[in-house]
Amino acid sequence: MQPDDSTDSTIERTLRAHLQVFGCQMNKLDAELIRSVLAERGYSFSASPDDAGLILFITCSVRDHAENRVHSRLGVLKALKRRHPELVIGIMGCMAQEHGKALLRQHPHLDLVCGTRDFHGIADLVDRVRDGQRGLTAITSLEPPDVARDESQRPFPFKAFLGVMRGCNQFCSYCIVPYVRGREESRPAAEIEAEARALIADGVKEITLLGQAVNRYDDGQGHRLPELLLRLDRLPGLRRLHFVTSYPSHVDQALIDAIAACSTATRFLHVPAQSGSDAVLRRMNRRYTTFEYLEMVERLRRAVPDMELGSDFIVGFPGESEQDFSATLALVEEVGFQQSFVFKYSPRPGTSAARQYTAQVPDEIKRDRNQRLLRAQEKISLAKNARHVGRDVEVLVEGRSQRDHSRYTGRTVYNNIVAFPGSKEMVGAFVRVRIASSTALTLIGDRVLEVVP
Ligand code: 5AD
Ligand code: SF4
Repeated sequence: MQPDDSTDSTIERTLRAHLQVFGCQMNKLDAELIRSVLAERGYSFSASPDDAGLILFITCSVRDHAENRVHSRLGVLKALKRRHPELVIGIMGCMAQEHGKALLRQHPHLDLVCGTRDFHGIADLVDRVRDGQRGLTAITSLEPPDVARDESQRPFPFKAFLGVMRGCNQFCSYCIVPYVRGREESRPAAEIEAEARALIADGVKEITLLGQAVNRYDDGQGHRLPELLLRLDRLPGLRRLHFVTSYPSHVDQALIDAIAACSTATRFLHVPAQSGSDAVLRRMNRRYTTFEYLEMVERLRRAVPDMELGSDFIVGFPGESEQDFSATLALVEEVGFQQSFVFKYSPRPGTSAARQYTAQVPDEIKRDRNQRLLRAQEKISLAKNARHVGRDVEVLVEGRSQRDHSRYTGRTVYNNIVAFPGSKEMVGAFVRVRIASSTALTLIGDRVLEVVP
């Protein structure tokens, strides 16, 4: 006999949630906070949508592709909802904020839509759906969320994200973030320090401070990012302090000096250049020139000679000529980034670039530039990683390698991924690894020399 829809299993299913997370680190942090809210209300979590009573999508709007994936995943759930009409399906995050009620019309099997700063109320929303209210939307005034964090919902016990600010005031012409996540709001430094202390007491050794333009952090009480870094650097037990994403023109001398002074600050800065052409940067409403970007890199490397850099680039922004693109290639060569993420421009409705620049670079040119830029970056990454061969590196061990189960992986202070023969006991510890070979993405170690206390 099939133990199917007995009352017991229905109750169990009701309180079982399945979350699908898309997009950036901020969404990963939001997902953790959403799990905390749900766990507080008795929910457990399932890796599969099939046995869940609640399915939530934490969505991203930054490119068309990210939105399309959610639409198609949602479409697939229609059949599941037919089999289990009591199933509650919700969309949260940036797409919810952007499209609101339109999503309910587009997907009649969707029950609720919840904006980027409303997730503290998600369990109540689900209860209201179950009380018979369908098609609920909670998209409020972009108030800052206030959520108690449940450490059991943290994906790694030894490292954590810490949100220090939300929103963005930069209005890069291509970007939808200021519209879906609202204006910049920084949390008070004392509150951040208290959360950091709690995380460290709970075993966290590496903290990544999160903000869309994190180096614009300013709590209005005399604390900007440099002060915040220096304050957190003093906390006993913290080994690594990292922060993303930095806006180039706000990497000022005070921040550089703070990075140099902090013993925990990692030696990797993600500071997206977006383009190497001043004409394109101007149209993107990025507030720096290539010269200023290079000058920033020089100041940074003068103070911290071993600093590694990462960048994002958009190729095929409207009007980008072959000459503009060559300037981007030249910038990549000149800076010698350790890592670059390359995106094809995707017009976002409502942004100023989508309104102003209607003529698009053809898709095959975007694809070609995407590949050429990735190849250029790969060559640089290969050469950079090869320099580590024969050396020892210190690694914070994250777990078993997904690709090769006989290996463990972790990261260096320069954000290199290292794969090596480790053991379960090393997870969450710092180990010294001898590097034997390398690829563009990975340093490969042949032995662990010691566990670093
Ligand atoms: N099209 C393509 N890429 C984009 N990004 C942001 N908006 C767009 C867009 N409309 C990229 C930027 C940013 C990264 C997170 O996503 O490079 O740094
Ligand atoms: Fe978007 Fe620019 Fe803000 Fe980054 S700084 S989130 S690219 S508007």
